[in-house]
Amino acid sequence: MNPSVTAAAALALLALPVHAAGTEVCSLSGSALRAKVEAGAAEIAEAYARTSRSDELSLDGSSADAACNWTCGSPRVITPLVKAFNFLQYNCNKPTPDTRRPVGRKTDSQMGLSVTDEEYRNATDKIFRSGSAGVGDLMRVPPALVQAAQDGSVKKLTDQVEKIPGAGWIKFSSTSVNNPPDGAARVLIRLLDGKSRFEQWIQIAINNGTGKLGRNVDFLAVQLVPDPTSPLNDGKPVVAFRGFSRTDSGFELEGPGSKPPHELSKCYSCHPTGLRAIIPAGAGTTGADGRPAIKPVGTIPLTGEGNITQISTEMPNGLAEVGPVGYKAEHNGPALGPTIDPSIEPKKRDELLKILRERREDFVANGIAARPGRAAVAGCAAKLKEPRRKAVVGNMDCQSCHDGETERRILNAGTSIETLFHKVVESKEAQMPPKDVWDADPSLKLNQSERKILFECLKAEYAEILQDWLTSDLLLVP
Ligand code: HEC
Ligand code: HEC
Repeated sequence: MNPSVTAAAALALLALPVHAAGTEVCSLSGSALRAKVEAGAAEIAEAYARTSRSDELSLDGSSADAACNWTCGSPRVITPLVKAFNFLQYNCNKPTPDTRRPVGRKTDSQMGLSVTDEEYRNATDKIFRSGSAGVGDLMRVPPALVQAAQDGSVKKLTDQVEKIPGAGWIKFSSTSVNNPPDGAARVLIRLLDGKSRFEQWIQIAINNGTGKLGRNVDFLAVQLVPDPTSPLNDGKPVVAFRGFSRTDSGFELEGPGSKPPHELSKCYSCHPTGLRAIIPAGAGTTGADGRPAIKPVGTIPLTGEGNITQISTEMPNGLAEVGPVGYKAEHNGPALGPTIDPSIEPKKRDELLKILRERREDFVANGIAARPGRAAVAGCAAKLKEPRRKAVVGNMDCQSCHDGETERRILNAGTSIETLFHKVVESKEAQMPPKDVWDADPSLKLNQSERKILFECLKAEYAEILQDWLTSDLLLVP
């Protein structure tokens, strides 16, 4: 051992609060390693189970021994800790020296990526760029649009959109997202690249009171063909996000140090599949702000062929990956609402599904007793009579569609719990699971209080799944 290093380390310990110094874990082995990983996994699972329905998982490393304070002295993270280290990168909001950057509100990685928001912006700016600097075609908002939006007139903006070949727009109130203080009204613009390399979707808030454009501009581009700076993985499109504030001098970037100051959110947490399905509030109904919805109008139709919900639900060319840098959904945990792999031979699959459902019925009825690091889990559906408990269980196979390959991307600990609550409980227009599931089996139709129970059961079950997953590589420890 090098004494000068030890002295320096001791000094560092004195100078910094204990949690900021970090707890070296890669040098552990055997039972000490096992105990550490199990304690960390229990802590993360407990935090997931306790995250409120209006929030997202955010670990703060507040106790000295918390997993967010783990550091790795060796150049490579040891195998049983790889999952945990990746997971912590997306979910710790406090810095850990030399190991991982903090993410979330008030950090340089507000978007929750493993790179800073600026690094992400620079990487996305390079896509379809002809020169060596500036914003490439993928992320460039047509300057004429920015200009047309400057004085706040919706009409001026949409007139400009109509001059762009292939472009369309729709003005509506959202059933799911409110943009305080403006409200739920917005105009959404879809721009198609002339060379079919990408699509751009731009959503600008409309102030409910004045009817003029608001501040918030959400921008998303779907890259459809490869570029040297952003090759496509198995041909899957890449989705890139950006947030702006509309000002009278143009679109200003949101994020660290922005003027006017506005934080970015973890876009991927609500956009696991890339584009979110747009579900406008109908005229005469209520928007997400609780106020009367504006009448949907525009060149993109609300119903019929090529309607807004259809084009936004059916991703062009399959399911997008969040990219090109900074995020891998598989690091944020296994699938929520797991089911049995549909590619397994049908008879075997039915047997496995039966076992999964029986285990679930026991879990939702009885919960689990307290264990080290974990509070007792109450039976989330204990209040229900047996046939209705079965119905809740029958709605828990979210992965049958959210499998990452066919219909939608997987949902996991990186998915906003607020969005899960919205889709499972709050949404009147597009609840999850979709009604095709009950059309096939009417006994599975849930009432509102059963939907709340479904949400609690999914969340409680996921905490267990996450805990198992984080410890699963301990099997490799000799
Ligand atoms: C709390 C969840 C949530 C977060 C966080 C979020 N979005 Fe969205 N976003 C939605 C929902 C829901 C819709 C569909 C809205 C509707 O039906 O009105 C949407 C729609 C959009 C659209 C219109 C195209 C589409 O996907 O349907 C864009 C563009 C967009 N968001 C960009 C962003 C960007 C950029 C970020 C991060 C800075 C972000 N969003 C963060 C929930 C979210
Ligand atoms: C039969 C297929 C199917 C099942 C089962 C299903 N979903 Fe979905 N899900 C969809 C489709 C299609 C969309 C896009 C349309 C929409 O947003 O309403 C979607 C969208 C979502 C979204 C928005 C993010 C995204 O990927 O677009 C969430 C969150 C969600 N589902 C949650 C769930 C949960 C939780 C369950 C299980 C309780 C579930 N879903 C079961 C098909 C399904």
